[in-house]
Amino acid sequence: MESLTAVILAAGEGKRMRSRQPKVLHPLCGRALIAYPLRTARSLADRIVLVVGPNAADVVALAGPDVRPVVQAERLGSGHAVLQARPECADGTILVLPGDMPLLSVETIERLVAHHRKSRAAATVLTAVVPEPQGYGRVLRQGGRVKRIVEDRDATDAEKKIVEINTSVYCFAAGRLWSALGKVRSDNDQGEYYLTDVIGVLSRAGARVDAIAASDPSEAVGVNDRKQLAAVTAIQRRRILDRLMEGGVTILDPASTYIEDTVTIGADTTIYPNVVIEGQSAIGSECVVGAGNHVSACTIGDRVTLLPYCVLRESVIEEAATLGPFCHLRPLSHVGPKAKVGNFVELKKSKIGRGSKVPHLSYVGDATVGEGVNIGAGTITCNYDGVHKHETKIADRAFIGTNTSLVAPVTVGEGAYIGAGSTITKDVPPGALAVGRAPQVVKEGWAARKAKKREEPRG
Ligand code: UD1
Ligand code: CA
Repeated sequence: MESLTAVILAAGEGKRMRSRQPKVLHPLCGRALIAYPLRTARSLADRIVLVVGPNAADVVALAGPDVRPVVQAERLGSGHAVLQARPECADGTILVLPGDMPLLSVETIERLVAHHRKSRAAATVLTAVVPEPQGYGRVLRQGGRVKRIVEDRDATDAEKKIVEINTSVYCFAAGRLWSALGKVRSDNDQGEYYLTDVIGVLSRAGARVDAIAASDPSEAVGVNDRKQLAAVTAIQRRRILDRLMEGGVTILDPASTYIEDTVTIGADTTIYPNVVIEGQSAIGSECVVGAGNHVSACTIGDRVTLLPYCVLRESVIEEAATLGPFCHLRPLSHVGPKAKVGNFVELKKSKIGRGSKVPHLSYVGDATVGEGVNIGAGTITCNYDGVHKHETKIADRAFIGTNTSLVAPVTVGEGAYIGAGSTITKDVPPGALAVGRAPQVVKEGWAARKAKKREEPRG
């Protein structure tokens, strides 16, 4: 079969975004906009050419080494952009994908390519029939065949009424594309070389130009400004939730659930309302994610319970652990199987071993906690001396009394006990009891003596 080169257009300035960041790097449900056409191109094309503007090293880096970048030094329009790609393109079919239409599905584009190859047309345009065509190029047909595309700003009032729009996805026979591009002029409202004009050039020359329409018009929403980004996000968000539900996840309130494209969730997990799960997160099967949880780049095993309102970042939680309500896992925390991290507990770069418990009001940072450990309410690891961070080690089955301060670096040995309210500054050997607090003083009858003193006349 003839080779397929995908040319992705991403050199537009994205002025309407009013952003310092290139438009195609804006995230959509956890992936940059440009990642979507790249994914499509990777699944269909033999080679991928990416047209970027000047100063787009970040875009090129994100695209990866299998992509051939070309720079469009001056932004003279979408037609000019495609022309810059020519030296990197093979003969055969050229598939043009805009960098800013992330909702286009692989299936739709596959259908376009298949139609184009079968019909042997000079060009095939992917169109969509949409309720609000404002802003898009309109497809002008004559007797079913495509005659030309007119941009919204160049359209007459009658043309503006057309609801079939150009999605900016096209297949071209390479030779036909290059010769037609040479004939495109910039005599339009923007003074740009429009790729859309290639369609008119080809059809005037008597070449066959086909169009097929996307079956789902929501695929054709482009991102030109932040309002469209929000609209596209809403559609993509719902698609992700649908995919998860089809895979066996219960989502109690899809309207209030935000889960990014990068997330995987196992079957029979239940997601309560107002949950955010983002980044490279993987959640196992039969978990419960309670209301208001915010999970970012975490790996969570099976049968984990997240009680409401936890904030979890870049951490690992093993099977059957219970977290929350209201706990905070900062990066590089690791909660072992069946462990419990409870109310108002903050972990940072700490490992909690199998079955260990940190149930209430604690800060555990830079610590390694073994198996079967009990950490009493209000225990704090004092890991910072104002200059350096230090480690705390708590061995298996140790029992840390309530309201203990562990001044790091410090080690508590296996099976050791610490009395409540202690400030521990020295290592505690295995099996020992350490108590580090002022002994209690009891003064019998002190209150009555004080009261009497107050009553006695002065002087
Ligand atoms: C374009 C189409 C319009 C279509 C719409 C679909 C043209 C002239 N118009 O309009 O018919 O309905 O997409 O979303 O093509 N680009 C460059 N270099 C440039 C100019 C643009 O690389 O000099 C790239 C952009 O990054 C973008 C694509 O080409 O990916 C389209 O450009 P954009 O300015 O977004 O065109 P629209 O007004 O959306
Ligand atoms: Ca656009």
